[in-house]
This record gives sequence, structure tokens and C-alpha cells, in this order.
Amino acid sequence: MIRLIGTGSCMGDTLLSNSELSKLVDTTDDWIKSRTGIEQRFITKTTSADDAVVNYAVEASKNALENAKISASDIDLVIVATCTPGRNLPSVACRVQNKLGISKKCQAFDVSAACSGFTLALHTARGLFLSCPEISKALIIGSEVISSIVDWNDRSTCVLFGDGAGAVILERSSSDVLFDTYFKSDGSFINDLYSDPNTNFIKMDGKKVFTYAVVEMVNTIQYLLDRNKLDQSKISLLIPHQANLRIIESIGKKLEISSDKIIKTIDRHANTSAASIPIALDYANRNNFIKALDLVVLASFGGGFAWGGALFTWPIKV
Ligand code: ACO
Repeated sequence: MIRLIGTGSCMGDTLLSNSELSKLVDTTDDWIKSRTGIEQRFITKTTSADDAVVNYAVEASKNALENAKISASDIDLVIVATCTPGRNLPSVACRVQNKLGISKKCQAFDVSAACSGFTLALHTARGLFLSCPEISKALIIGSEVISSIVDWNDRSTCVLFGDGAGAVILERSSSDVLFDTYFKSDGSFINDLYSDPNTNFIKMDGKKVFTYAVVEMVNTIQYLLDRNKLDQSKISLLIPHQANLRIIESIGKKLEISSDKIIKTIDRHANTSAASIPIALDYANRNNFIKALDLVVLASFGGGFAWGGALFTWPIKV
């Protein structure tokens, strides 16, 4: 069994409001708010993207370690989900391991599934807890500098994204708490949400992404509930990927989950890709939206298309 014992987050270094953004491209605060729910985002200005993706991950990890009341040397596994690693090698995870001073040999690697990277990282961690008895504590991070792959002249995409990182600490547990995960992809959609091989800029068919994001996140949540013989009335808190407020509201409506049980942080940080779910989870934890033994469900969707989720019991003490 696995339980989550700490959360942390960190935002990009520079705040960019909708009204500031509307001075750069032909858009308005009103359009962005009404079509997406986004009011502001944090981007990266003071360092290179290559440094920032590691720095944000380290900052979020320190907050999570402090929240879990453990030290970096207790960590046996580091997984970083990112689609903006800055460089091809070494992995962001090994760079984070180094910066955190985790001197013992542990498993550290990156996973990439765009906006679904964090749920893939949880899914991978669950498998490793089962197969590697030496793993006692894991640090799972989503860290992105999406501003580095956004075309700041393209109003249809640049308004949507922001930078930041979120982290959680998982612990092997003897207590009987739920921790289940799910992940799937469909490569027939590789041309509907991608980074251009020439410019690296994000391109997408926004309407298609919207439609499939709702369908597959609803399916994911339903699948996880069914597999654990639960129904949606048992969900205490739903934390979906923060891509568009209208996507989030559609999921709630389709599953008949009331709005007060759904965490929405997109207004403050826009879509931070693999970082969005752990940032929202940290917000929920630190603002007392979650209490002991609550059933928490996560759901993600992104490029691939790839989607996934997690369902777990909030432990007695976090
Ligand atoms: N400001 C003002 N007008 C804009 C802007 C903007 N920033 N962007 C587009 N428009 C215009 C379009 O040009 C279009 O004008 P036209 O009618 O004269 O042609 C009009 O607004 C409507 O555009 P649509 O694309 O139809 O707007 P839509 O309601 O579909 O919203 C959006 C677009 C927000 C991208 C939506 O489709 C969406 O959120 N899709 C999900 C995609 C997503 O979240 N991707 C992120 C990455 S993947 C993930 O994380 C899930």
C-alpha cells in the first residue's frame, strides 16, 4: 500500500496578467476569462528555461519534504514529469537529485506524457513500489517551463499556458488506504496537439482537444471508481488537469459532482501542463480542502492524446 504524505509547489518567476498579455497580442481579458477561466499566469524571465525547470522542481520538492516532515536523504525514488526538460540529458530528475543533495544511489528518471505526465509518474511509481521492496519513500514531481515552447505571437495558444512545478511525497504504508492509478494513450491523435518540429511551438486543434479531454477524463474517473467498487457520491475532492474552466465544469456536470468538490486553480496559474495537478493538490492541502480519509480523485488529459488518473484515500496525517 502507498500513501501520500506531503505536497509542495512553486510558480514561475514572473506574473503576467491577462491585461498585460493583451498588450502583446490581439486579445482581451474578457475573452480569455470567458473562454478559459484564466486570469493570470506565471512565466519565466529571470533564468533560462533549462535552469528554471530544475529550480522550480527543487523548490516544490523542498516544500513537499517540509510538509511531509522528512529529509531529502529519505527519498528512494525521484520521478519528474515534464515535456520541457531544457536539455536532452541528463534527466531533470537526476539534476533535482543532485540539487537536493540526495547522495545515496536511488532511482531517478523523467517521464513525458505532456499534460498527463504527472498521472503517468504516479502510475509508474505505483508499479515500482510493488516491484522494488527497497523503495520506501518517493518524490514525484511535475515541472514545466511551457512559456519556452509557446509562440507569443499566436493568440490562440499563448493565452493558455503558464510555468511552475508541483511535488508530492509518497510512502510505503502498512495501513489499509486506497491508492490506485490508471493511464492510457492513443497515438492516432499525434497531429492534434504537438510541438512543431521546426519551431518547437505548441500547435493544437483546440476544439478537438476540448471534446476528447472531457470524454477521456470522465471515462478515467468512472473506470477508477468502478475498479474500486465506488460511485461518484463517494468522491470528496476531484482535482482535474487545469486546462480550461469549461472543460472542468463539463466533467463535473457529466459525473454529477458538485462544484464545491472540484478544485479549480486555473484562474491563478493557467495550464501548467504536467505541473497543474500537483500544484492544485498542494493548494487543496494547504488551504484545508482535504481532511483525513477523504477520497481524492485526479484526472488528466494532454498531448498524445494521453490521459490518466489516480484515486486515493487522504491519510490521517499530512
Ligand atoms: N483572444 C481573442 N480571440 C481569440 C483568441 C484570443 N486569445 N483566440 C482565439 N480567438 C478567436 C478565434 O480567432 C475565433 O475567431 P473567429 O470566430 O473570428 O474565427 C474565435 O475567437 C473563437 O475561437 P475558437 O477557437 O472557436 O474558440 P473556442 O471557444 O474553441 O476556445 C480554446 C478556444 C480556449 C483554445 C478552447 O478550444 C480550448 O480550451 N480547448 C482545449 C485546448 C486546451 O486546453 N489545450 C491546452 C493544451 S492540452 C491540455 O492541456 C488539455
